[in-house]
Amino acid sequence: MPTRVLRSVSELREWRTQHGARELALVPTMGYLHEGHLALMQEGRRRVPRNRGALAISIFVNPTQFNDPADLASYPRDEPGDLAKAESVGVDLAFIPKPEELYPPGASTYVEVGALDQHLCGATRPGHFRGVCTVVSKLWQLFTPTVGLFGQKDFQQLAIIKRMHRDLFWSGEVVGVPTMREQDGLALSSRNARLGASARAAAIAIPKFLQLVRQRHAAGERVSSRLIADAEQALAPGRIHYVSVVDAEQLQPTDHANGPTLVALAVFFDDVRLIDNTLL
Ligand code: PAF
Repeated sequence: MPTRVLRSVSELREWRTQHGARELALVPTMGYLHEGHLALMQEGRRRVPRNRGALAISIFVNPTQFNDPADLASYPRDEPGDLAKAESVGVDLAFIPKPEELYPPGASTYVEVGALDQHLCGATRPGHFRGVCTVVSKLWQLFTPTVGLFGQKDFQQLAIIKRMHRDLFWSGEVVGVPTMREQDGLALSSRNARLGASARAAAIAIPKFLQLVRQRHAAGERVSSRLIADAEQALAPGRIHYVSVVDAEQLQPTDHANGPTLVALAVFFDDVRLIDNTLL
């Protein structure tokens, strides 16, 4: 069955009313879909088979979560390719609004979680999570899904969305799905398409470094600075935005990896900002 495309909030509201009490899985995306997104959709379909409800995605490059206009302008887009991929995994509905649909003139309401965003991407991309939370709130309100699926590559985003979901008594459930990787270990990301050949080859320094961190931890190392020692050399020629060791619950920096710990990083290769993480 072809994926139905809706572009306006009013069409989506009408569809949602008709859909009624049946189940609904939602995968919010910014498009330029890759296998990682398709894994989210497949998990959505597994949780909501067609005889019980619908699988929906949104494709929207959300301007409010970009703190760098050049990053927003160069974000890759491919609507026909996205729709073909969505159809191949049985997506029933794709909501593809223009910015004015979700942010009509005069829109002035923003959603801030007020915690979990002090470090990692929150510290290095001011306003980013406010934009993410605002757009996810709008989408959740419009879709009222029974399940919303998000990737664990953006671990901090997932933690913040889970907190917002709990604090605002939202419908349904937020589900995290493990990171998909290329054969050489690089985490799948729409941004990988912007890497030149040599930067793409160099970027495998990221999964290699995270592997080294896991090896150090497995060998008994618990001191955070030693777990991530020599990051600059290991990630060269990448330019480090941050490499941090935080506790996996509150996302606060920790000197020792005694409990559940997240090592997360953001590194520029060829001016393309790549993120990844590993749980210890
Ligand atoms: O992870 C993303 O692609 C975006 O941050 C999201 C959740 C679709 C909100 O714009």
